[in-house]
Amino acid sequence: MPLTHAQMRSLAEQEGLSSFYLLDLDALEQNYRRLRDAFVDTYASTQLAYSFKTNYTPAICSALKQLGCWAEVVSELEYDIATKTVGFDAASTLVNGPVHEPSFVRRVLLDGALFNLDAWYLLDVAAQVCRDYPQREFRVGVRLTFPIEEGGFSRFGIESSPENLDRLAAWQQALGNCRIAGFHSHYSNSSRSLTSFRSRVEGLLSASAAFFGPDRPELINIGGGFLGEMPASLAHQYGETPPTFEDYAAQVADAVRRAYPDAGGPMLLAEPGTAIVANTMVFVCRVLEVKNLGGRRLALIDGSKNNVKFKKQGETLPIEIVREPDASTRSSPADEAPTFDVVGNTCIEKDVLCSSVPGTIASGDYIVFQYAGGYSHVLKQPFIHPCQPIYATQKGTTRLVKRKETVEDILATYL
Ligand SMILES: Cc1ncc(COP(=O)(O)O)c(C=O)c1O
Repeated sequence: MPLTHAQMRSLAEQEGLSSFYLLDLDALEQNYRRLRDAFVDTYASTQLAYSFKTNYTPAICSALKQLGCWAEVVSELEYDIATKTVGFDAASTLVNGPVHEPSFVRRVLLDGALFNLDAWYLLDVAAQVCRDYPQREFRVGVRLTFPIEEGGFSRFGIESSPENLDRLAAWQQALGNCRIAGFHSHYSNSSRSLTSFRSRVEGLLSASAAFFGPDRPELINIGGGFLGEMPASLAHQYGETPPTFEDYAAQVADAVRRAYPDAGGPMLLAEPGTAIVANTMVFVCRVLEVKNLGGRRLALIDGSKNNVKFKKQGETLPIEIVREPDASTRSSPADEAPTFDVVGNTCIEKDVLCSSVPGTIASGDYIVFQYAGGYSHVLKQPFIHPCQPIYATQKGTTRLVKRKETVEDILATYL
């Protein structure tokens, strides 16, 4: 999606700002197809469900829905975006998450979406719904936790001890109208390595074997956490060569295939977020001024750390500089520091987006922050400034998919 300086300026001027997000929907489609194909080629009965929390921009979710992806949501807010805004039906929506109001649990179960219950209190709430509708048949998933290599236990889910599996079986039997369809797990406290994924899938397979015995589970849900495509400058920060989608499939999907070699094995669900969106969105900022202060060179932009702050493992996300072609605006670097810092639009002294970037920078240049697709955008607060617009490129055209925020947007909920 590389844009020229003139294209960046023209986009920035459309909404009257010097910064914006740019989303590449072609790259999104490519990521989705590559990940899905890698899994489906290994284990045909695989279904991907996109993790809305990673970036719930409706243009992203709609594009994935059109490709056959399901939705994975963790709150009523995300459920509403999935089902009301984007139009996912309940049958292709998975609901996870540790904290829910009873009314929401009831709504999801009555809609028929698969709820992966994360804690005993949610099983109690679900049981009440099942008792209230004795004529209906329900099905739920259960999120399990067990120690995995390079991560240990997750704080989420129910420990998959023999006692707890017995308790789940008793819960199911006592109700009579609710079936546990399968187990789910997701780890965000672990490395994203193949070693970690091997123990994730082994834990799920052994809990499924213990619980379902000769009967097969309807599904096995490995969660998300896959690394996506990235440049070497980012990859080396993860300590090892990042696994490819095919590597993950060989580890996870192949383990499920080996456990269920005959036709009619469980559906393998995966909930990718980062792997599908991280590299599809960049944050583009025009340099408004370059200051030399106390031996530092500071490039001021209309964006803040809050726009690009999400770093899963403290990584430094790469930037690219698109130079202002008019060289007359470039000051002589002779007496300047050899590196520059990029400083933000808030009144926080520490709002420094990048430090000690080698090379020159001039007012009018654009700084493009890469890998802003996962979490960064949804974690952005309207602190001091409202959020910037998003443009999306797809098959050679560019369109606005989120306008810049206004004071009315920000204050709409204050009474
Ligand atoms: C239950 C669940 N599934 C999937 C994801 C997506 O994770 P990632 O973006 O690392 O793929 C998350 C993220 O926290 C999650 O909590």
